[in-house]
Amino acid sequence: MAALLVQAVLCGYRFIDTAYSYGTEKIVGCALKLLFEAGFPRDGIFIQTKFYPVMPYDGKSVRKQFEESLQNLGLDYVDAYLIHQPVPRYSELEYAERNISAWKEMEKLAAEGKIRHIGVSNFLERHILQIMEQCSTAPEINQLEINPQFQQAGLAAFCRKRNIAVQSWGPLSVTDDKAKAVLELLAKKYGVSWTQVALKWNLQSGNTPVCFSKNIRHLAENINLDFELSEEDMEAIRLCNSADAHRKTWWYPRQQMY
Ligand SMILES: NC(=O)c1ccc[n+]([C@@H]2O[C@H](COP(=O)([O-])OP(=O)(O)OC[C@H]3O[C@@H](n4cnc5c(N)ncnc54)[C@H](OP(=O)(O)O)[C@@H]3O)[C@@H](O)[C@H]2O)c1
Repeated sequence: MAALLVQAVLCGYRFIDTAYSYGTEKIVGCALKLLFEAGFPRDGIFIQTKFYPVMPYDGKSVRKQFEESLQNLGLDYVDAYLIHQPVPRYSELEYAERNISAWKEMEKLAAEGKIRHIGVSNFLERHILQIMEQCSTAPEINQLEINPQFQQAGLAAFCRKRNIAVQSWGPLSVTDDKAKAVLELLAKKYGVSWTQVALKWNLQSGNTPVCFSKNIRHLAENINLDFELSEEDMEAIRLCNSADAHRKTWWYPRQQMY
């Protein structure tokens, strides 16, 4: 995997997304070590990782986990640090206070120069507003599941209006037959693959897609997005949206409850 990451960078990728909970930070650290030893500049690459909020969850646990992440990555700062999700298990009654306490600690780490940009992931409007109302800085990033079958357009527009950059995770996670058929039709029209169409749609919608592949041929294909979808074709993809076509992870129903 470290070798694949190095190949991805050679291919042109400059943004690496990882997370404490993925257990991949040490592998990313190995790849970065190889790149830096070969003369690749630290400021030539954007490294993002995430705080995994598990109970007990407070400012102290943020600092402890963050220091571990830095050590795993072999870095003295990260470009972005996100709270992975807004409602951790077993924190339903006091998740808002816990998010705020975590956020304040992240603000301190940023002031110490250890984080360049602080943000969140999978946060809905109310979770973001809770932070904005009680902290001195607003999130700069919200990483959300966004792809042609699950678009979260309202939430993404809310973020953009508040200068919160939207990143899309799972941008290629298209399982719906209708959405897949539309993407394949457009792929033929533009002479590209359906994954390129899906990524371009995300980019043209104003989001930064964060995609994944273990296949170097796919990596090379996915970064080649030198074409433009017409407004009519963007609209055809917009019509593939379905409100419940998200990944079946536990946090969606829980977020809606609280
Ligand atoms: N914040 C969060 O809660 C959260 C949650 C999930 C993921 N993420 C982040 O988002 C990233 C991407 O999301 P994801 O892992 O859900 O996956 P994704 O990027 O939507 O899809 C990955 C899948 O697409 C396939 N693929 C990639 N390029 C392809 C191509 N050109 N042709 C055909 N198939 C292709 C890959 O297979 P091959 O390996 O065979 O190419 C892989 O199975 C993750 O790596 C992670 O960093 C964040």
